[in-house]
Amino acid sequence: MSIDWAIIPMAGIGSRMRPLTRAVPKELLPMVDKPLIDWIIDEINLANIANIVLVTHPSKVAIKEYFSDLEQVRTSAKIHIVEQMEPLGLGHAVGCAQSVIGLEDFAVILPDVLLTDVQSHLVSPILKNMVDIFTQTQQSQILVENVEVSEIEKYGIAETTSSNLQISRMLEKPGMHETDSTLAIVGRYLFSRSIWKEIEQLKSGKGGELQLTDAIQNLLVKEIVCCYVMGVGDESYDCGNKLGYVRAFLQLAQGYK
Ligand code: UTP
Repeated sequence: MSIDWAIIPMAGIGSRMRPLTRAVPKELLPMVDKPLIDWIIDEINLANIANIVLVTHPSKVAIKEYFSDLEQVRTSAKIHIVEQMEPLGLGHAVGCAQSVIGLEDFAVILPDVLLTDVQSHLVSPILKNMVDIFTQTQQSQILVENVEVSEIEKYGIAETTSSNLQISRMLEKPGMHETDSTLAIVGRYLFSRSIWKEIEQLKSGKGGELQLTDAIQNLLVKEIVCCYVMGVGDESYDCGNKLGYVRAFLQLAQGYK
């Protein structure tokens, strides 16, 4: 079976991009010639995922308006909108989508992380590749890339068994001495349906939030969860911070040369 559902959690407050995000939700900020969210939708289109669930917050009226004009949103996927009333954490945001998805396998795509393709500089095929692997293996996969040791405290970190890409432990924003791994989660996840149970049972974790990383940790003791490591030359951009946003803008503009 393939992946028919993609969740885009976008109910966060975007504090790192203030004061701009007081006027415009982060997902609608311009990225070259279209809103940031359109790049994410293009990536989902390329992966042939039939349904998209937007998890948003009632205050983000502009998001609802944008997606009400389906001619503007260039996708044949069906769009579903659910609300997370309070930003209680990424694990909680994903859990809010269960009301429309039911107990199916699904992808999670963080809309402030952009991936660029090394050759075209445009939409990355990584999500599509992950979906193709899932169709064959039915195993959950987390996209990761190597970061500097000094950076690991900003990310969810995956430890792997030495011989393969199976994840042996997940840590949310660990200190430098808590792990030897520098494999950081990059904002693309494919989950087997078993994760729903772990999401339902989540307890408050790092920062008092319901952390998706904790649900993954609880899943991997029961079934195989693998890493998909970003290739050499593939780039990811965290558009949730000012420098990452500007870098992504410049990189993607190169694709139009
Ligand atoms: P971030 O922490 O990067 O987003 O969460 P944020 O909260 O919007 O931004 P900052 O940190 O305050 O600058 C990653 C993604 O998860 C969503 C966010 O909207 C973002 O797309 N998210 C996070 C939720 O939907 N709900 C939450 O409770 C937390």
